Amino acid sequence: MTLENNETVRILLVEDDEDDYVIFRDTLLQITGSRILLEWVSGYGQALEKMTQNQYDIYFVDYRLGDHSGLDLLRAFQGQGFDMPVIILTGHGDYEIDIQAMKVGASDYLEKEFLNPSLLDRSIRYSLERSKTIKELSASREELRFLSRRLLEVQENERKLVAQELHDSIGSSLSAIKFTLEQKAIEMDNKALDDGGLLLDRAISMVRSTMEEVRRISTNLRPPLLDNLGILTTIRSHCREFQEVYSDTKINSQLDIKEEDVPDGLKIVIFRILQEALNNAAKYSKAKHVRVSLKKTGVGLEFSLEDDGKGFDLKDLSRRSIERQGMGISGMRERVELSDGFFKIISEKGRGTLIRAFWPTRSKAYITDDSL
Ligand SMILES: Nc1ncnc2c1ncn2[C@@H]1O[C@H](COP(=O)(O)OP(=O)(O)O)[C@@H](O)[C@H]1O
Ligand SMILES: [Mg+2]
Repeated sequence: MTLENNETVRILLVEDDEDDYVIFRDTLLQITGSRILLEWVSGYGQALEKMTQNQYDIYFVDYRLGDHSGLDLLRAFQGQGFDMPVIILTGHGDYEIDIQAMKVGASDYLEKEFLNPSLLDRSIRYSLERSKTIKELSASREELRFLSRRLLEVQENERKLVAQELHDSIGSSLSAIKFTLEQKAIEMDNKALDDGGLLLDRAISMVRSTMEEVRRISTNLRPPLLDNLGILTTIRSHCREFQEVYSDTKINSQLDIKEEDVPDGLKIVIFRILQEALNNAAKYSKAKHVRVSLKKTGVGLEFSLEDDGKGFDLKDLSRRSIERQGMGISGMRERVELSDGFFKIISEKGRGTLIRAFWPTRSKAYITDDSL
């Protein structure tokens, strides 16, 4: 039997029975095509020490290791952050151990009595190949995460710029137009009001509502309060505005946290979730009450938004075609997960909707400057 391309494969065997070691070594010797370097250790402690030195490509671990099992060793190995392939060996077949080994993350499970060069060669090749694929997959997932994070950052910066431009350029031009029109109106007031005066009044009122619209768009793009006064004031203000527009829904906010306990990087994330979840509650829920909460708990930081409206079936949502699924919920989830948090949505027809985002204390986003 052959392993590919004359590559060197470094193997560590963890086996407490010397005879079994000898059989394993002799079987391995019959595999050609690769340089195989085999080392052997017999005890659990010694094995873990060797394994975590990270000098091998693949590990064969006997299921029985004195007081420990091979699976204990595998768990301890993975617990220290290693992901090299581990193949479990056992004296006699046991389907239960096979299943357990698979669940714990063993690459393969081989019965010693059936060990032969071709089986061993195949198991090594497949395990190495799979481990390589898993590594590539996790690297590309990490890259995707990095890019998505960057994309959100760029998007937020763009929004900030557009909001600023709207405010500084169009906003101040509109103010100037309004001022000029008002001056003219004052002048004309002294004369008899004619059609021109009425038109002027109408124009002033149109400019006023356009200014209000520009302010609303600019605030939604990036609330200036967030950068000036912080997330708590922003949440209160956003809820107040919501209340003014949707007077049939009573909104309550409970903020049991100090501004300095919310890491800067999370503030915009929390605001975007509030924005989207409130939008959804307004558009779909017909709720009587909406409760917004942000709090610090012993284990992290939690934001939630709950409505007592119509609710919906999450399964129905996943059955919709991708284009009809909407970007709101998936966008909220993405923002939370990219900031190392956990996102959950619970909804049931007739029972309202709960959106919950949680960032554990240990998460990177949670680390504030002074705790670094
Ligand atoms: N608070 C809510 N109450 C009732 N239905 C909701 C609520 N939030 C979301 N939904 C349902 O979930 C769907 C997906 O929401 P979302 O992802 O925000 O996308 P979109 O708002 O663009 O449709 C909505 O179309 C709606 O049917
Ligand atoms: Mg939506």
